[in-house]
Amino acid sequence: MDTNQITLPLLMSVGTAVIGSLQFGYNTGVINAPQKIIENFINQTWSHRYNEPISKTSLTAVWSIAVAIFSVGGIFGSFSVGLFVNRLGRRNSMLMANILAFISAVLMGFSKMAKSWEMLIIGRFVVGLYCGLSTGFVPMYVGEISPTALRGALGTLHQLGIVIGILIAQIFGLEAIMGNDNLWPLLLAFLFIPAVIQCVLLPLCPESPRFLLINKNEENKAKSVLKKLRGTTDVSADMQEMKEESRQMMREKKVTILELFRSPLYRQPLLIAVMLQLSQQLSGINAVTFTVHVYGTLTFLLISLCLSLHLLGLMGMAGSAILMTIALALLEQLKWMSYVSIVAIFAFVAFFEIGPGPIPWFIVAELFSQGPRPSAIAVAGFSNWTANFIVGMGFQYVADACGPYVFVIFTVLLVIFFIFTYFKVPETKGRTFDDITAGFRQTSAMAEKHTPEELNSLGADSQL
Ligand SMILES: *[C@@H]1O[C@H](CO)[C@@H](O)[C@H](O)[C@H]1NC(C)=O
Repeated sequence: MDTNQITLPLLMSVGTAVIGSLQFGYNTGVINAPQKIIENFINQTWSHRYNEPISKTSLTAVWSIAVAIFSVGGIFGSFSVGLFVNRLGRRNSMLMANILAFISAVLMGFSKMAKSWEMLIIGRFVVGLYCGLSTGFVPMYVGEISPTALRGALGTLHQLGIVIGILIAQIFGLEAIMGNDNLWPLLLAFLFIPAVIQCVLLPLCPESPRFLLINKNEENKAKSVLKKLRGTTDVSADMQEMKEESRQMMREKKVTILELFRSPLYRQPLLIAVMLQLSQQLSGINAVTFTVHVYGTLTFLLISLCLSLHLLGLMGMAGSAILMTIALALLEQLKWMSYVSIVAIFAFVAFFEIGPGPIPWFIVAELFSQGPRPSAIAVAGFSNWTANFIVGMGFQYVADACGPYVFVIFTVLLVIFFIFTYFKVPETKGRTFDDITAGFRQTSAMAEKHTPEELNSLGADSQL
């Protein structure tokens, strides 16, 4: 029987998990629409409290902090993923993280009533923490419950969830809906509802069979979960793969973040993981408005993923960026260039959504076996959120300085990421975790000049 089919329990588990991705997208997008209104609120509370109007500088500062502290929370959250997944399990970690969602919903939802923009800022930090954790938990859980052949395709649902979250935030942020003086606290607190839904559904989803078998050594439970997820009684192939990985783990032991950086074994995959995260954040996608971003969803639904699409995506983005630069530069002379720039920007987003958007999220789990996986996911998440923060803070200044040529910078970065991916990143589609990591062991053993002792310990680690 085919164990690579999409069953109802699998779909339901993945669907429940990606509510976390939706939350991430929603909270990324939600702050943009009501900027004027929230600035107004800050201004009013300030006047109320200090009996003088807020200065332009202070207002900008408070607003920027409220926006950017989300990424700071994300940095902390993504770095803490490893603390939870191996102790509580993947599913329970996701469940527990919702506490943060509830806390932040309350803080932001009542900030207006309490006349406190501090609550808004703390709430944004807490929801950032939650999103940082989610961007680690969700791809990991989805990757571990999916059959090998479907891991990539189902992994893209994380990105789809993010984009849909942004879309919902855009719609809800319309003035006629919640983007107005009275309802903006509800707009920010809306994350409460998906959190409740996820809390109801998650207990019905199984724990990751990999966690059950490898971390908990509960073979029977793992087997029964797999049977449910795969919709078949013969799950020996999956069990075999996981046991292989488990045996590997016994020798490999848990790898801390520090060890991850020290060992030559992990240098190559770690570099790849970090570079792919950077390729996502430094691709220039954040320069594109969220509304246009959502268009990518359409393209996105139509495709199945493989690594070559990351290359295609990077190349397409670079091409679109060049086109956009030309169009913007000639806009003064040639009016029809505005149409070209619209086409270019849409193509830019579409290419983002087939490669650099979804792939970095789930490739990390594929590049590392169980031992170093939590640490690797933490490091990758950290790079992603940090780059996100830097772009968020710096883009406006660079854009003001460069004018239409800002996309030249992104073109250069995209070409660099393209070259890197082409030469360094292995194909992962349809391969087992073990197979992929074995490939790295070979290259790292060949590339590094080891002392005999090092080679010995390396061999002890890597031979099956
Ligand atoms: C704050 O509000 C007052 C009164 O509504 C307004 O005159 C002032 O321009 C606002 N300040 C800023 C920095 O927007």
